Amino acid sequence: MQLIDGKKISEEIKVEIAEEVKKIKAAHGKIPHLAAILVGNDGGSETYVAHKVKDCEQVGFKSTLVRYPAEVKEAELLGKILEINMDGDIDGLIVQLPLPAHISEQKVIETINPVKDVDGFHPINTGRMVIGLPAYISATPMGILELLTRYNIDITGTYCVIIGRSNIVGRPLSNLLSLKANPGDATVTVCHSRTRNIPEYTRQADILIAAMGKPGFVTADMVKEGAVVIDVGTTRVPATDTKSGYRLKGDVAFNEVAPKCSFITPVPGGVGPMTRIALLKNTLLAAGKKIYS
Ligand code: GUN
Repeated sequence: MQLIDGKKISEEIKVEIAEEVKKIKAAHGKIPHLAAILVGNDGGSETYVAHKVKDCEQVGFKSTLVRYPAEVKEAELLGKILEINMDGDIDGLIVQLPLPAHISEQKVIETINPVKDVDGFHPINTGRMVIGLPAYISATPMGILELLTRYNIDITGTYCVIIGRSNIVGRPLSNLLSLKANPGDATVTVCHSRTRNIPEYTRQADILIAAMGKPGFVTADMVKEGAVVIDVGTTRVPATDTKSGYRLKGDVAFNEVAPKCSFITPVPGGVGPMTRIALLKNTLLAAGKKIYS
């Protein structure tokens, strides 16, 4: 069994990105610039956005954080997005989700210029991704593909089972894995809360991706000997022995599943750090205008 070390790979990629930033600066006299909009003060969102800003600093990007109180009017937020869409100095824009209930997330996502949509949430990017055109790929699917590639795990012809059909993980990942591309060419099944017998599928999987947010759901009896297991779960469970007062738990019962695997990602330190890298990679692409040019 080999542990897939997302933390180590993400540090390596940050060094690579920092090198690219130097090249772009030398060639074009500018540095990649990410803008993030944060509405309200949800603890989780505050932490995620703070990480994103810190990651930008680390690789030499410029970042702009725009904050609004939770009561901000939808029209004001949309107006700010339109302003950033027109700002020639800003390459990428993200609006941290979730948003307060009175604001339409879909309207917000669709107001972001697809060329600056480095989260890859705009239907134009989703649509382009589905048919294999260059597009911004959303963070978790991109992070998973990058991990598989860096560990030389060839998915061609494999049977991949994904548990979870969310718009930001399971659904896009199922499309990417089955594309006629490299990485791609896998046969994919998406299981979800209404699937009748999930273990029947997972036991056949060469690559099993757990992304439904149920801690410890995947047990050893559900996994084929020699499978690759990717754990996307990051449920916060209360803990008395950590500074934060919680601990992240994956969707896989790691201790019993790991001995059966050829490769497995831990939680934390597997997929999580790679999702932060995807945003940096997309911002770099946006700055180089390599997607839509
Ligand atoms: N909330 C949770 N994950 C994400 C993400 O990847 N992007 C944005 N904008 N909000 C999120």
